[in-house]
Amino acid sequence: MSLLGFRLLPEQASTIAGQVDALLLFLTAVSAFFAGLIFLAVIVFAIKYRRRSEKEQPRPIHGSLALEIFWTVIPLGLTMIMFGWGAWLYFSMSRPPADSMEIFVVGKQWMWKLQHPGGQREINELHVPVGKPVKLMITSEDVIHSFFIPAFRMKKDAIPGRYNVAWFEPTKPGTYHLFCAEYCGTEHARMVGRVVVMEPDAYQTWLAGGPVPVSPAAAGEKLFTERNCVTCHRGDTAARGPRLAGIFGKRIELHNGETVVADESYIRESILSPAAKVVAGYQPIMPTYQGQVTEEQLLQLIAYIQSLPPPSGEPAPASPATAPGGAQ
Ligand code: CUA
Repeated sequence: MSLLGFRLLPEQASTIAGQVDALLLFLTAVSAFFAGLIFLAVIVFAIKYRRRSEKEQPRPIHGSLALEIFWTVIPLGLTMIMFGWGAWLYFSMSRPPADSMEIFVVGKQWMWKLQHPGGQREINELHVPVGKPVKLMITSEDVIHSFFIPAFRMKKDAIPGRYNVAWFEPTKPGTYHLFCAEYCGTEHARMVGRVVVMEPDAYQTWLAGGPVPVSPAAAGEKLFTERNCVTCHRGDTAARGPRLAGIFGKRIELHNGETVVADESYIRESILSPAAKVVAGYQPIMPTYQGQVTEEQLLQLIAYIQSLPPPSGEPAPASPATAPGGAQ
């Protein structure tokens, strides 16, 4: 819908877009209705209750319980509808479906770096297949940016030092704007790109088109060896570091009796601040890798750990000096 070439709203190109617009329409309609009602009342009352002569004294008013309940309950009901509807929509936007494909997003001054599950990299461009949910793991390597695709009604901050998750499912092939929606320095306005939604076949062709990529997990495995992580995280019971195979997504016990879920954020923290949450039964001897690995390398290490299959027959009998369970 456009007026003289001017679009009132961006195109609706994701499963959530219509729902976001419906909520926006509801909020606008309620606000417009009450704004109109108040303006009308101001005008009508100003005329109806105007002072007609110098001697006129208004009648005192003692309030009305019924009226007060009426104008309390109705706004309460309306705001609760807004709250409930908004919260429900927020949660559905925050929880990616289990079968999502995962894309890593790293913002930096002033570009978006994206990586596909198979390792294909893109800058300021994202190719995705239509009709498939896409989960984004968003972070930043310098300042706060914000990853914004108006046609998908999707916006999520990219914050240095943490992972933000967002998702969308494109419904229409086409090319859509991608913006940085957080002022991030001189070239903020030029930190733009595009999202290309393709038919699944075309996407497969596109994937196969570029140079042969190294998957994030494979790159992570290489790093894991190069940085000698493997000397401590060997996977046997005598190792100085905890076994990493099969821990991803599991709840693990810490030395102080607390537990934590070994998700992306926990693994990231353990690489950068190893002493923060030490696993039960181990000493805080791991050195920090702060400043030695880039955001992309962190994502690769996480992808590698995520890819490790749990050892068969838990708990693994100690077979000394074997590398952690084979990658992929
Ligand atoms: Cu990045 Cu604005």
